[in-house]
Amino acid sequence: MRKVVAGNWKMNHGMAATRGFLDRLDLADSELEAVLVLLFPPAISIGVARGALRPGSQIRLGVQNVHEAEHGAFTGETSAEMAVEAGAAYALVGHSERRHLFGETGPDTLRKVAAARRAGLVPVLCVGETLVERQAGRLATVIVEQLDAVLGDEREAGSVERGDPFLLAYEPVWAIGTGETATPADASEAHGILRLHLEERIGVDRARAISILYGGSVSPENAGELLRAPDVDGVLVGGASLDPGSFARIVRAAGDGSV
Ligand code: PGA
Repeated sequence: MRKVVAGNWKMNHGMAATRGFLDRLDLADSELEAVLVLLFPPAISIGVARGALRPGSQIRLGVQNVHEAEHGAFTGETSAEMAVEAGAAYALVGHSERRHLFGETGPDTLRKVAAARRAGLVPVLCVGETLVERQAGRLATVIVEQLDAVLGDEREAGSVERGDPFLLAYEPVWAIGTGETATPADASEAHGILRLHLEERIGVDRARAISILYGGSVSPENAGELLRAPDVDGVLVGGASLDPGSFARIVRAAGDGSV
């Protein structure tokens, strides 16, 4: 399976910085063929990113969050349909900052996944435990519950079972933006729990075809080791995705292992 390297810029890089990043991102076509590269700029920069990509570029764009409705009186929100129009093909759903800073719940994530599907965006569902939950031995319970908030829904489970694209990202909250990285063994353990649960829900073959990304203080220095860990199919990178040089090194680590 092709490894996935996704850059989540969060609330960084407006339009000018987005153009500058893509002008300076130095990745050969062959490197982009070996790895699926996704970029999640702020919603306001997606259109500019699309314009700045080389024609035929293999880089795919995504939106960091969507509202569940198609349009309406929801000041400040962006619909999945609008994100598609701007150039997005993927949507992050349930990122820990959405859950913890903006109070997003399991039912919210299901509605957002459904909105992404309606518009034709590939959902990337993020799950992860806090330090307190981990220390209380609740890792498996928490991440399976977050996954089940979406896959417990018959319609969504059916859609994933039929082969509609779906990506998962395991992002331990204690490792996001903190410089604390889960060890490759920690990542594999959590990914193994998610994979097993997927197998039970949607069958072994389909479960194995779903990429599970690790996120939390991924850097050019640790990406290779994480990407070689069992069950780690890609990485979701925050801070280290903001600089085109360091992002390209992570893409290379996913491709041929060199940084
Ligand atoms: P980080 O963020 O790489 O800066 O820890 C990861 C994420 O939140 O997606």
